[in-house]
Amino acid sequence: MKHDIRLTVNGDTYTLAVEPWRTLNEVLREDLNLTGTKLGCGSGDCGACTVMVDGRSISSCLTLAVEMDGKTILTVEGLAPSGESLHPIQEAFIEKGAIQCGFCTPGMEISALNLLTANPSPSDAQIRSAISGNLCRCTGYNKIVDAIAEAGRQMKPHAKVRR
Ligand code: FES
Ligand code: FES
Repeated sequence: MKHDIRLTVNGDTYTLAVEPWRTLNEVLREDLNLTGTKLGCGSGDCGACTVMVDGRSISSCLTLAVEMDGKTILTVEGLAPSGESLHPIQEAFIEKGAIQCGFCTPGMEISALNLLTANPSPSDAQIRSAISGNLCRCTGYNKIVDAIAEAGRQMKPHAKVRR
């Protein structure tokens, strides 16, 4: 039996009928076509599925969609302030060469947002701790850490964060 839920995703509100066993990741990717949020392990280990829910990052693969009724969700598609410009986190990932295959990038950037919103001047250790749940097979992490530090510097004076 399906349940009606109401989600606000990247500023748009949706009413959906979902089976109780479906995850938020499935609903975002399959029902809303928001495929920027990736599905990697499906078991809470890789962070590729990370999204913000009511201002906190969570693993969408471990979250049932029915539990999200009434919640406000931000995915990587909502990170940029407009179609014309990128978010400082996205700019920094490009500038610092922190993207290779890109599969980890949406989850990394959402985890970065979660960190930088609370602490725009994190130490390298704090950055590494904040992304410890996000696996990257390509970059070796150093460029991602550099990118997040740079994004923090850029966000301090003119942060525009949708949560
Ligand atoms: S897909 Fe969710 S943590 Fe890996
Ligand atoms: S850039 Fe390929 S997994 Fe991170």
